[in-house]
Amino acid sequence: MAMSIFSSVLLLLFLSCAIISTPVTSSKQDNDYLISSRIISHPAVEKQSHLRFYWHDIHSGPNPTNVRVAQAPETNKSSTFFGVVNIIDDPLTTGPDVNSKLVGRAQGIIAGAGLYKLEYLVAWNLVFNDGKYNGSTIAILGRSEVFTPVREMPIVGGSGLFRFARGYVLARTYSHDLVTRDAVVEYNVFVNHY
Ligand SMILES: *[C@@H]1O[C@H](CO)[C@@H](O)[C@H](O)[C@H]1NC(C)=O
Ligand SMILES: *[C@@H]1O[C@H](CO)[C@@H](O)[C@H](O)[C@H]1NC(C)=O
Repeated sequence: MAMSIFSSVLLLLFLSCAIISTPVTSSKQDNDYLISSRIISHPAVEKQSHLRFYWHDIHSGPNPTNVRVAQAPETNKSSTFFGVVNIIDDPLTTGPDVNSKLVGRAQGIIAGAGLYKLEYLVAWNLVFNDGKYNGSTIAILGRSEVFTPVREMPIVGGSGLFRFARGYVLARTYSHDLVTRDAVVEYNVFVNHY
C-alpha cells in the first residue's frame, strides 16, 4: 500500500516534469514568424556582476564628448536647462584620470527634463571595448538629478555577455568644474545576467 502511494507520487512527478519540459510549438494559425516558444522549466543560473569605472563628460576643449544638438526656445530662460538635448560619447576608464585605461564608452542622449529642478533623462548604451566584455553593451534608461550625492539609474537590458541584463547603476560625482561643466563620475554597476 505504502509502496503503491510512493510509485503514484513518482508517476505524478514524472508526468509533471514531462509537461513542464514539453516544447509548446506554434500551430499554423499563429504568427508565421514565431518559430518556437517553450517554457523554461529550470532557470539558468543568474549572476550579479559589480563593475566600477569612471565616466568622463567633456564639454571644454577642441574635442568635446558631450554636444548640444537641440533645445527649446524656452531653454535659454530656464535655470534648469529644461528642454535641452545633448548627445554624448563619453570615455569610461578604470580610474578617475582620463588617461587611465579605457574600458568602454557611454553613448546616447541626455535631455533636460526638469522644469523646476536640474534633472536629466538619461538613455545610454555602455559599450565595452576591453577584455571579455569587449563588444557587449548595457542599456541604461533613467533619471539623473546631478547635484544629489548618489544617482541611481535602472539597467533595462543588454547585449552580448549582458544579454537579458537587468540591474542598476549608482553614480557619484568625483569632480565637477562649474565653469567648463566637465565632470568625472564614479559608476558602480550592479548587473544581473547569465
Ligand atoms: C540661446 O542662447 C544662445 C547663446 O547665448 C544663442 O546662441 C541661441 O541663439 C539662443 N537660442 C534661442 C532659441 O534663443
Ligand atoms: C575588441 O574587439 C574588437 C573587434 O573584434 C577588436 O578589434 C579589438 O582589438 C578588441 N579590443 C580588445 C582590447 O580586446
